[in-house]
Amino acid sequence: MFAFALLSGLLASAAAKSGPIDTFANVTVYQPEDEDNRVTYARTETLPDGNVIATWNDYNQINNIQIYRSQDNGFSWYPFGNATSDQEGRKLLQPHLLYLNQSFGEEWEMGTVVLAVNAMDRTSTNIEIYASGDLGETFEHVSTVATGGAPNQTNGAMPIWEPFLMLRDNKLICYYSDQRDGQHAQKLSHQTTRDGLDNWGSAVDDVVDRNYTARPGMPTVAKLPNNKWILAYEYATLNETGQYHYPIYYRISNDPENFGTERSRRLVDTVAQPYGGPYVTWTPIGGVNGTIIVSDSSTNSVYINQELGEGIWKEVRTTAARAYSRELKIRKYSLEMRGEG
Ligand SMILES: *[C@@H]1O[C@H](CO)[C@@H](O)[C@H](O)[C@H]1NC(C)=O
Ligand SMILES: *[C@@H]1O[C@H](CO)[C@@H](O)[C@H](O)[C@H]1NC(C)=O
Ligand SMILES: *[C@@H]1O[C@H](CO)[C@@H](O)[C@H](O)[C@H]1NC(C)=O
Ligand SMILES: *[C@@H]1O[C@H](CO)[C@@H](O)[C@H](O)[C@H]1NC(C)=O
Ligand SMILES: *[C@@H]1O[C@H](CO)[C@@H](O)[C@H](O)[C@H]1NC(C)=O
Ligand SMILES: *[C@@H]1O[C@H](CO)[C@@H](O)[C@H](O)[C@H]1NC(C)=O
Ligand SMILES: *[C@@H]1O[C@H](CO)[C@@H](O)[C@H](O)[C@H]1NC(C)=O
Repeated sequence: MFAFALLSGLLASAAAKSGPIDTFANVTVYQPEDEDNRVTYARTETLPDGNVIATWNDYNQINNIQIYRSQDNGFSWYPFGNATSDQEGRKLLQPHLLYLNQSFGEEWEMGTVVLAVNAMDRTSTNIEIYASGDLGETFEHVSTVATGGAPNQTNGAMPIWEPFLMLRDNKLICYYSDQRDGQHAQKLSHQTTRDGLDNWGSAVDDVVDRNYTARPGMPTVAKLPNNKWILAYEYATLNETGQYHYPIYYRISNDPENFGTERSRRLVDTVAQPYGGPYVTWTPIGGVNGTIIVSDSSTNSVYINQELGEGIWKEVRTTAARAYSRELKIRKYSLEMRGEG
């Protein structure tokens, strides 16, 4: 099941104004027919007309990814559209959605919805870009950002994973996890395009570790009000017993294309241990600095910081279910969270 929650009062004292939207928890967006199937990587985009579109990772698909839509702020959802691979046997997984609030290159009008996926078949992983001119109902495949080896998480295999899109200064940035560098089990990379959705530049490192075995992964990025950007990721490293563990780290940079030279910081609360698959966002609520909010994949809580990423992080418990790679999205005075349950 893939659920959706609108949380408010989360930033308690900060949220002095109550939002215009009623809050709720655990609305079901999509329930797979097969009860053993678990859908993950819930992702949404809010459109200027107020509608919300949603998609998610479903390994049981054949070669298409479904788009659902809500016209009532997330209270109810129905099937709306699809993106379909033009290659047989290629599943469209690990999605991310982005509404273009400006025209882009010569071809793409303001209002284009861009979908990045990891298109996987037995022999390859491919970060593919699809575009919709009708707000998420139909999509065409427009480009492939990067191609890696077969989907195989073993160190030494060379797949790529988990695209995340961000628009900045007439440039579209696509961040992803990258196992193709023989010096690193996995690293974080990005590529950019400026003049359309199909002309991607070469890959640039965002996070690499001197230790081969380290596996930084699952990048998400948010803009802060001081003209800096925050990159949150899981930093898989081997612990004393030789097993991977997944603490959450972040970097802050003046330039979202230059995280590579910044230092890594661990996201810790004094008690809680956020763990795995983070998602970062920022809201102006919460004082002069607003609030950075990070979700993880193993607790119901979110983690907040009101000092632009300096100083302390605080755990805030929520009534939403925990899930692998939940998404957080700000809607005016409320916070939405999506996951699987
Ligand atoms: C999307 O594709 C699936 C699988 O082919 C189909 O079951 C579903 O009806 C389609 N959704 C829409 C809104 O057309
Ligand atoms: C588009 O959205 C981005 C990210 O939210 C924002 O920084 C930018 O100012 C917006 N541009 C326009 C033209 O509204
Ligand atoms: C996965 O990759 C590892 C390392 O390259 C390789 O040894 C293994 O055979 C691969 N697994 C499959 C199922 O291909
Ligand atoms: C490399 O990783 C191992 C195991 O996690 C750790 O003990 C060691 O300190 C790391 N070395 C460096 C240079 O980071
Ligand atoms: C090492 O990591 C594994 C898997 O995350 C965990 O179960 C185990 O408790 C960890 N061991 C230590 C000593 O931290
Ligand atoms: C805002 O952030 C700055 C920079 O980290 C910090 O020095 C300041 O104390 C923060 N202000 C508040 C009210 O937390
Ligand atoms: C939402 O679902 C989760 C997981 O089943 C549960 O822990 C939580 O209590 C539910 N929240 C509400 C408000 O019912």
